[in-house]
Amino acid sequence: MEAVDIQSELIEHDPVAARGENRDGEAKKVFIKTFGCQMNVYDSGRMADALAPAGFSGTDSLRDADLVILNTCHIREKAAEKVYSELGRIRRVQEARRRDGNDTVIAVAGCVAQAEGQEMARRAPAIDIVVGPQSYHRLPELLDRHAQSGETIVETEFPAAEKFGALPAVQRRQAPSAFLTVQEGCDKFCTFCVVPYTRGAEYSRPAAALLDEARKLASRGAAEITLLGQNVNAYAGEGPSGGQWDLARLLDALSDIPELKRLRYTTSHPNDMTARLIAAHRDLPKLMPYLHLPFQAGSDRILKAMNRKHTISSYLEIVEQLRSSRPDIALSTDIIVGFPGETEEDFQETMRVVETVQFAQAYSFKYSARPGTPAADHKHQIDDGVKASRLARLQQLLSAQQAAFNRSKAGRVLDVLWEAPGKKEGQLSGRSPYLQAVHAEGELTLLGRITPAEIVGASQNSLQGVIKSHR
Ligand code: SAH
Ligand code: SF4
Ligand code: F3S
Repeated sequence: MEAVDIQSELIEHDPVAARGENRDGEAKKVFIKTFGCQMNVYDSGRMADALAPAGFSGTDSLRDADLVILNTCHIREKAAEKVYSELGRIRRVQEARRRDGNDTVIAVAGCVAQAEGQEMARRAPAIDIVVGPQSYHRLPELLDRHAQSGETIVETEFPAAEKFGALPAVQRRQAPSAFLTVQEGCDKFCTFCVVPYTRGAEYSRPAAALLDEARKLASRGAAEITLLGQNVNAYAGEGPSGGQWDLARLLDALSDIPELKRLRYTTSHPNDMTARLIAAHRDLPKLMPYLHLPFQAGSDRILKAMNRKHTISSYLEIVEQLRSSRPDIALSTDIIVGFPGETEEDFQETMRVVETVQFAQAYSFKYSARPGTPAADHKHQIDDGVKASRLARLQQLLSAQQAAFNRSKAGRVLDVLWEAPGKKEGQLSGRSPYLQAVHAEGELTLLGRITPAEIVGASQNSLQGVIKSHR
């Protein structure tokens, strides 16, 4: 998740630059463009892993790509529509490549693929392969089937368990901060949300496989791992010697991997925020003091209509418990404005919750009616102008809170994990324990390391640091 973007309508990520082994020396290249949440970022990396044995390596140039994969997001209307405009651009590149005698296979993966399936192929005949989030381990086979038949292949069936078992081990070099999907799918069925339909039922991966993958990620360069799940704190996976592990137990075991210095997890549902997990924020030094905990709306009436299964008082109680367990914890959230039937008074309650909690960061959205979800059929849809006005007022408040949170760190010394070269020559960019972006002058040799930095400046979206002496 782009940590500093409070109004992210649609997140676009950099293409995956996979470094798969090309066994027979054939220079087959895959370009993967990722939309949506962090799980899609993780999945794009795993698609690259799945394609490496078939001779594909990654490219960040569309012009060079023999295979183009769009890993799509269906969460809001704009996100889904983006795919079709992107396909137009890819078609033009495909035609240019064809003039040079090169073929380009176009695959659509992710949540739009799952939701629209065959319909996508009808609407955009240029698509060669439609593959859902649970089926991408079969990409090499789907490519073969397409090559043999010349037909569009649609594959959206398989259960999550099969995918994880079939994927090859992580081979790519990892960035200092890596993702690891531990749980996938959702049984909560919030009435606005497509995820239970696109990602399927909740499934937790066995702990042994996760510990193994985490060790591989660490040995390939990751100093930080963010555990992912649509309801990550509902994690209930098979323990290495039987029994069931919860997320607190898994975090505890991951803490024992020496190369891993930082742990995070996202996204959590308030109802699964157990006492054990809250205590883990006190007891595990590697668990970073930051939590993304969506509350969606500030009125119990709207929460009920959303089928959120929590109330505002239960949410505020969890916030209090988290803060007594880990006093400096930074909180982030997701909020929807203009859910069907939301009155100005309901919206004011949302504003009051924000005033009460004081978020370090937040994502806020206008309600977007999604096909097949119960709320889309609600009679009292809210006018777009009203939604826009509520969103603007909310985002003004959230921006002010984010700026205040950043300013509160000025003058302090924070540990920063240096993750990438900065935009300017000689600069590094990294993250504070609170997930704030930090920029500082520094040597590239510090990438992947954690050093103290004195915070000398704070802006809306980032901190300016000066790296202190380090060993
Ligand atoms: N629990 C999930 C939520 C995924 S969706 C997770 O793993 O992150 C991320 C956010 O998108 C939700 O928390 C919600 O605030 C927003 N969202 C989901 N459906 C939406 C819709 N129909 N309209 C507007 N925002 C929506
Ligand atoms: Fe969607 Fe609700 Fe499930 Fe989150 S908990 S993925 S918002 S249905
Ligand atoms: Fe989007 Fe699917 Fe993630 S709908 S938010 S890519 S789970």
